[in-house]
Parts: sequence; C-alpha cells; structure tokens
Amino acid sequence: MKICHQSPTDPAFVQDPYPFYARMRAAGPLVYWEEYGKVAAFSHDAVQTLLKDRRFGREMPPELATEGPDHLAPWLAVEAHSLLDAEPPRHTRLRALVMRAFTSRAISDLAPGIEALCNDLIDACPEDDFDLLEAYCTQVPVITICRLLGVPEAMAPDLLRWSHAMVAMYQAGRTRTTEDAAAQAATEFTGFLRGYVSERRNDPRDDLITRLIAAEEEGTKLSTDELIGTCILLLNAGHEATVHAIANGVKTLLETGTDPAVLAPDAIDRTVEEIMRYDPPLHMFSRYAYEEVTVFGNRFQRGDEVALLLGAANRDPANWERAESFDPTRAIRTNTGFGGGLHFCVGAPLARLEMRIALPILFARCPNLRLTEPPTYSDSYHFHGLTRLMVQR
Ligand code: HEM
Repeated sequence: MKICHQSPTDPAFVQDPYPFYARMRAAGPLVYWEEYGKVAAFSHDAVQTLLKDRRFGREMPPELATEGPDHLAPWLAVEAHSLLDAEPPRHTRLRALVMRAFTSRAISDLAPGIEALCNDLIDACPEDDFDLLEAYCTQVPVITICRLLGVPEAMAPDLLRWSHAMVAMYQAGRTRTTEDAAAQAATEFTGFLRGYVSERRNDPRDDLITRLIAAEEEGTKLSTDELIGTCILLLNAGHEATVHAIANGVKTLLETGTDPAVLAPDAIDRTVEEIMRYDPPLHMFSRYAYEEVTVFGNRFQRGDEVALLLGAANRDPANWERAESFDPTRAIRTNTGFGGGLHFCVGAPLARLEMRIALPILFARCPNLRLTEPPTYSDSYHFHGLTRLMVQR
C-alpha cells in the first residue's frame, strides 16, 4: 500500500484539497496517510463499501477506551452519550428515538418559517460590502434548529459559541487551549440544557425537546444524560455543516457564473445535490475495525482505524463524468456528502430543505449579487468551510 504525506494544515491543501485527493485515488483504493497514522479510502467505491460494512463502526472498541484526562471530563461525558459515536444496540435505540421525534412532518412544517426568515435576513443586509456567511448562511440554520428543538432564538449566539468550541476538538491542530475551551463549552451547554429540560417538563410544547422528554419519561428508553447528549448533538450538527453547505454553494454559483435558472423549482434539487457533491462541508470521518478483516487487499486488526474521505469520493471520475466540474444539470446520483450506512445523516432532509429555500431566495432577492473579495477556506480540516464570504448585493 502506498504511504502518503500531506499535512492537513498545509495552506495550499486547506484551500484546495482536491488535487491531493485525485492523486490518492489514482494510487489505489487504500493509502496509508502518515500524518493521521491511518489507512485512508479516497475512491467512491472504497468509501461507500466501508461506510456500509458492519465489521467497521464509529464506537471505539471497549478495550481501547481510556479514562481520558480530567480537564476534558465534561466534553467526554457529552461524547459518551452521543448517538454518533454509538453502535448497535445502543445506536439503534437512540437513533429510533430521534427519528420518532424528527418526523418528516416536523421538518416540512418548518418551510414557511424558513422562507420568512430568509427574507427578513436579506431585508436586514447592508447595501455596502458585507459578510454573507455571518449575515445569512449562519443565521438560517442556527435559528431553524432553535425553532425545531424549541430553544429560544435569543440563545443562538451562545449555541454558536459552544458548538464552535466543541467541534474544534475534531479539527486538525488541536491544542490544550482547544481542549479547555471545549470542556468549558460542554459544561455551560449541559448546564443550560439541564435547566431548560426541567422547565419544559412542567410546560410541554409542540417541539422536539418535548418529544424527546416524553421518550425519556417512558422509562429506560432514554436516560437524562442521553437526552442532554442528543440535544447537544442535534443543536451542534444542526447548524455547523449546513452553514458551510450554503456558503460553499453560493461561492461556487458565483465563481462559476452559473445561471440562477438552476435554482428554479424544477431544477433546485439537482443543484443542491451537485453542491453537496462538488464541495461538501465535511470531508473525513473514521471507522474502527471490529474484527480481523481483509478489505481492498489490506488486513485490518480489531481496533485499527480507517479514514473515509467523503470529499474525495465525491470527485471520483469512476462514478461521475467530468467529476472535477460543477454541473448542476447532471442527474442525481448518491454522493457521500451526508455519509452512508448506519450513521447516514439524520438531518439530511432538513439541510436539503434549508438549501432549497435559502439559495433561490438569496439569488431572487439579490439579482446583482457578486463577490467583493476571493473567499478563503478556514484552517479547520476535516471541516471545509469559508472564513467569510464578502459580497455586495
Ligand atoms: C449540509 C449539512 C450537513 C452535512 C454535510 C452533514 C453530514 C453528516 C455526515 C457525513 C454524517 C455521518 C458521519 C459518519 O458517518 O461518520 C452525519 C451524521 C449525523 N448528522 Fe449530519 N450533516 C448535515 C446536517 C445535519 C443537520 C441539519 C442535523 C440535525 C438537525 C444533523 C444531524 C446529524 C446526526 C444526529 C448524525 C448522526 C447520525 C448517526 O450516527 O446515526 N446533520 N451528518
């Protein structure tokens, strides 16, 4: 197997990881990525196969688990109850409870409110240069997830602060400062939710937190710690990636000079899928092998990790013609932007709905929208999102 060297914080790589991905796909289905100390899959076939292979999973095998340092305890406590890092049977139980509360009706009911929100945000945008990432792309998902869960919209700035500090733990270049900030955010976030959940117990409403509390009160199905962990996961995952999916989409549409006709009702679904294929906001997730297994010629031992490069799989020429080109007219074909297999993104229908509403409204209300400086990606691999998106409307 080929061994590759690529720092995930190298500025050229952060700005454009796709040439590296193309070289790795050409090197074989699996490559050893020295900086991560892991085998990595870059092709569509290898990534999809491993996402679906039940001999691999996200939860760390118990014999590898360590206590973790004291200063990280609050963050680790939240992680320990996350459905994202669980495997069956715990994952099955937690995911079923979330899905029961996260109904397609609850999602589609959000549409008129998202439309009104997008219009209000555009009304408030300045006439001069402004940062669309902050003024629009961030606000749409964070306010929408507040509404879905039933958290006051005034909490949005706190949710953003806590979430950014907590997800920084997954980004390359983590330091002790990152860890202290994540632990502090987890303490504050958990404290807020404990208070909020107990208020809501006595004052049920028609929202997701109330539906999750009902599941918790049915008995042993959802413990209070799991309820808090699930709310934190939904509140964080509910905006972190969608912000950048919308912003990367705006950037691509403007840079490629794409005709806004691709945002018309009969074309928008393809455009959204193509944005998710061409420049998705999350590029890499890992799996542990649960037994000794040979896949794509590599022998994994129990506990070995494999990195799955979602962003690379999406540009695989074996699966898409002219894979390196943005073509919103291409027929929809499953890409890996939302993952696949057991952990396929719970929020994909919500994220797609937000993109389907936010992009057409933006371009219809701002027909002269243009970039006023070249956007740059932030140094936060495996996240692939912009630092800011300066535009004039
Ligand atoms: C464009 C925006 C989004 C992207 C690109 C995205 C991407 C992903 C990916 C790739 C995974 C699977 C990770 C893995 O297999 O290791 C995932 C899981 C998940 N996502 Fe999303 N997501 C987005 C939006 C959302 C939203 C809006 C929510 C919630 C409201 C959400 C909630 C979740 C949850 C709960 C999981 C864990 C599912 C499980 O472990 O069974 N996501 N997401």
